[in-house]
Amino acid sequence: MNQPQNVTDYPNNNTIFMVWRFKDDADVKSVFEKLCSLVENMNRSYAIRVVNGRTSCVMGIGYAAWIKLGLPMPLPKELKDFEPITGSKHTAIASPGDLHFHLRGMDMGICFDMASDIAHVLCPVADCTQEVHGFRYWDGRSILGFVDGTENPIGEERPLFALVGDEDPAYAGGSYLFVQKYLHNMKNWESLPTEEQEKVIGRYKMSDIEMPDEVKPTNSHSALAGIEDEAGNDLKIIRDNMPFGHPSKGEVGTYFIAYSKNFSTVQEMLTRMFIGNPPGNYDRILDFSTPQTEHTIFRANDQYAAAIFSGT
Ligand code: HEM
Repeated sequence: MNQPQNVTDYPNNNTIFMVWRFKDDADVKSVFEKLCSLVENMNRSYAIRVVNGRTSCVMGIGYAAWIKLGLPMPLPKELKDFEPITGSKHTAIASPGDLHFHLRGMDMGICFDMASDIAHVLCPVADCTQEVHGFRYWDGRSILGFVDGTENPIGEERPLFALVGDEDPAYAGGSYLFVQKYLHNMKNWESLPTEEQEKVIGRYKMSDIEMPDEVKPTNSHSALAGIEDEAGNDLKIIRDNMPFGHPSKGEVGTYFIAYSKNFSTVQEMLTRMFIGNPPGNYDRILDFSTPQTEHTIFRANDQYAAAIFSGT
């Protein structure tokens, strides 16, 4: 892959997320080369064939897979296996994964075709442990009914917050990817009056306007997930969460996905959410949202793949 991956693309209407784990003793290296080539081919091809389709496939690689595939050393500075974060009531669990795919498109048919082509290459050497089909819900709302993504970086801020820079020159242009699959307890959530739901999120539901600091509860999602550096500047990540669900089974949720120039920013947000600030004052969104699987760090990067294809 000789071009940067599309991590800074804006959210789209349809997404398929996939997590794969390599089978023991499988010869993954040659398959991985085929896969890199396929991912690049798909991104190029759909850009030509589906004008305004905003189609992209981003591949991420986990720590263990990086080692197994013999990708360049030293590792990206913050690439490691995720360690669980345990608070007084809620835990951010850790699940293993080798490769992650984030497939976006205006048209679900294209996401489906990309997923099928990837599965065709990977099935002989890996098992798919997670496949989630996400959709845009109304005017960009999470399934909880609040607009999700408003405080995301826009314009020039996107590469600034999402892409590795001079702090790790060998991997400049890459990005840390973090995902969590949450299930929501909609019965409990819907039993809350709107005013109470607003206090959980820290924003007004219909207008999507942020509550003033003097009104916003300290255990609201936006109070705990919103963080600043020592100089008081906002520290951001790019989020492209998608709702998913099977209403007939009572299973609905949010697939949380973030790209960041480092992992420490995500880690700090998670610590404030799960442990709380101060400890015990945890994020109330977690009383209605439980992470089920997939707390894994992956790294989406163009550099390693360039190395593979140039034969170095
Ligand atoms: C159950 C899963 C989650 C849901 C449904 C959710 C939903 C939301 C909503 C509705 C907002 C307000 C609007 C906006 O996007 O700016 C928000 C803000 C935010 N969320 Fe989440 N979120 C979830 C998990 C997470 C996690 C795990 C993180 C971090 C690791 C996170 C980080 C943030 C950040 C940084 C903001 C912006 C805060 C601000 O500056 O005001 N979210 N989220």
